[in-house]
Order: sequence, then structure tokens, then C-alpha cells
Amino acid sequence: MELLVLGGTAFLGHEIARSALAQGHRVTCAARGSAEPPAGAAFVRIDRDEDDGLAPLTGRRWDVVIDVARQPGHVRRAVRDLAADHRVFVSSGNAYADFSSIEQAEDAATLAPLAADTMSSDDDYGAAKVACEQAVLAAGPAAVVRSGLIGGPGDWSGRSGYWPWRFAHPVGPEVVVPDDLRFPCAMIDVRDLAAWIVDLAGRRVEGTFNATGPTTDLESVLEVAARVAGSSARPRPVPVERLRELGIGDWMGPATLPLWIDDPDWRGFATMDTRRARAEGLTMRPLEETLTDVLAWEETRTQPRRCGLTDDDERRVLTAL
Ligand SMILES: NC(=O)c1ccc[n+]([C@@H]2O[C@H](COP(=O)([O-])OP(=O)(O)OC[C@H]3O[C@@H](n4cnc5c(N)ncnc54)[C@H](OP(=O)(O)O)[C@@H]3O)[C@@H](O)[C@H]2O)c1
Repeated sequence: MELLVLGGTAFLGHEIARSALAQGHRVTCAARGSAEPPAGAAFVRIDRDEDDGLAPLTGRRWDVVIDVARQPGHVRRAVRDLAADHRVFVSSGNAYADFSSIEQAEDAATLAPLAADTMSSDDDYGAAKVACEQAVLAAGPAAVVRSGLIGGPGDWSGRSGYWPWRFAHPVGPEVVVPDDLRFPCAMIDVRDLAAWIVDLAGRRVEGTFNATGPTTDLESVLEVAARVAGSSARPRPVPVERLRELGIGDWMGPATLPLWIDDPDWRGFATMDTRRARAEGLTMRPLEETLTDVLAWEETRTQPRRCGLTDDDERRVLTAL
């Protein structure tokens, strides 16, 4: 198939393009060019912030357009300007309105769509994704993939890599972890998600799909992380109230403990009912393989991790206990 990936130079989009090339498709990636697409893909430089930014891609018809955008204006202009037989939009579990229950299905309520073309802050992310979904679905045959946390090699956020990395590089015999060890966790390996998205595109599958890994809990993830790191360090569960007193946050950002959210209303956030995707062919490698490979990637990381505790944070917390 003749595939256009809008994006294709960053984490998931790059892997989608790589996977499509490996499956024998012709692939064009289009972005501003802050990073390279995979070898073998054609590259077209575009700026989707401009109203006519897609002009270099018009005047032809694509078999499938895959879009990873966040800004509704980017997606509204893409469906307006690009002719395609089929579209796949990569959305997010953030589209849902409520995260208090685990494993929500695709018919759970979503947020109201963002009317504006541009998010005014990251708080608009879920509503922006809903607006993008609606624009793509209104344009013709399409699949929407609501992804959960994407892990594996190239996870610049560090959320999937932090725990294996921390167990591989403890500052002492113990590793600081939240005592909320039953927190529900799930993640999907970027390679499994990308391969499945290409498969959906090739078969022109329509519909809305949740996509993440099986539900597990923080304790199980920590066990796998310590094992793949070959670490003898022991988890040191710290009461959530104590973490708060010490200025340690959750999920993402400086001085945080990832894969955990300190809010009962977000307890189901990481998990999704994925029966529909699995019936449509989504398969997942074991978490052990994802964490082994993301640890190898973490050891070569060139940008700062955007979550977790630095060695200084870790020592400060352990000393304070
Ligand atoms: N990471 C997660 O855990 C997670 C979880 C759920 C859902 N998701 C979704 O999964 C997807 C991740 O995709 P990704 O890793 O490929 O995305 P990404 O990191 O958001 O990259 C965005 C892509 O779009 C391009 N781009 C950004 N602004 C542009 C502009 N103004 N004009 C043209 N191109 C532009 C970027 O390249 P340039 O900068 O070179 O232009 C890049 O190729 C997103 O849809 C995200 O919402 C992620």
C-alpha cells in the first residue's frame, strides 16, 4: 500500500513507518524535520501549524493516511486537504471522561471535544484527542486507536524505562517505591502497537479500539523490572503521605515515581478493555521483553529522562526515612 505517516520521525510514528517498510509497503513520512524518518521512507517537510502546510502532500490520493497529531487543527486540515481511501488516527486513553474504574471499554463516555484548533495547555490533551477522533471519523472510512502508555525502546518520557533503569543503578541496597503496590498498571510495547496499526491499515479495518497491554499491578512491574536489571536491590515501599511530605510526585515530571498515580479518581487510567483489539489481531510480547529492551535503550539515552528520581532525589528520600 501507499502509506502516508503524518509524523513518522518520533517514537511511535517512526516505528509505524519502520514496521510498514518491513511489511513491504511504500511509506512517506511528513513532518517539520526535527528528527529523521526510518531509512527507506520518503520524507516530505511540512508545517502543520500553517493553514496551507499540507500543500506538498496534495494533488494525489493515498491508500492510507496514519496520523499521530494532538492538535485538532492539524487533523481538521489533514482530512480537508488530503485524499485517502482510509485513515488511522492514533488517539489516547486520555479521551475518556472518567478513570475511576479499571478496564473501560470503547463505549465509555469521552470528554467533550475541544472546539479550538489548538490546545491552550496540556490539560486540553484528552479533549483535543476527542476532537481529532471526530474529525477523522467524519471524513470517511477510518480506525481510531486509543492507546494506553506506550513503552519500549525510544520511550523518551522514561515512564517504561525508569524502574528497570533504577533497579539497574540503585544508590544503595534499597529502591524507593510507593507503598501503593496494588496500583493497576498496563503498557503496550511500541513495536507491537506499530505493527498492529500497520496491519489494521493494510486491511482497512474500521472502528474505535482500545490498545494496551494486560492489566497487572505496580508490584508485578517492579518484580519484572528488578529481574531484567539483574538487581539484588530491594523495593522500599514508602507511604504515599510521606512521599508527598518529601515533595515526591507521581506519573511524570521531575521528582516523580512513574507508573503510579496518587489520585483515586485516576486509579483505572492505565488500564483498558482491549477485547475488541485482540479480536482484531493485536498481540503483545511479554512485559519482560519490553522492560529488557527499554533498559538496553535507557543505557544509551542521550536526552534527560522526564520522570523518576535522580540519584540525589533517591538519596534524599532514603536518608529522610
Ligand atoms: N507516549 C505515550 O505513552 C502515549 C500514550 C497514549 C497515546 N499516545 C499517542 O501516541 C502518539 C505518539 O506518536 P509519536 O511518538 O510519533 O508522536 P510525537 O512524539 O507526538 O511526535 C509528533 C510527530 O509529529 C510531527 N509534528 C509535530 N508538530 C508538527 C507540525 N507542526 N508540523 C508537522 N509535523 C509535526 C513531529 O515531527 P517534527 O517535530 O519533526 O515536526 C513528530 O514526527 C501520539 O498520537 C500520542 O498522542 C502516546
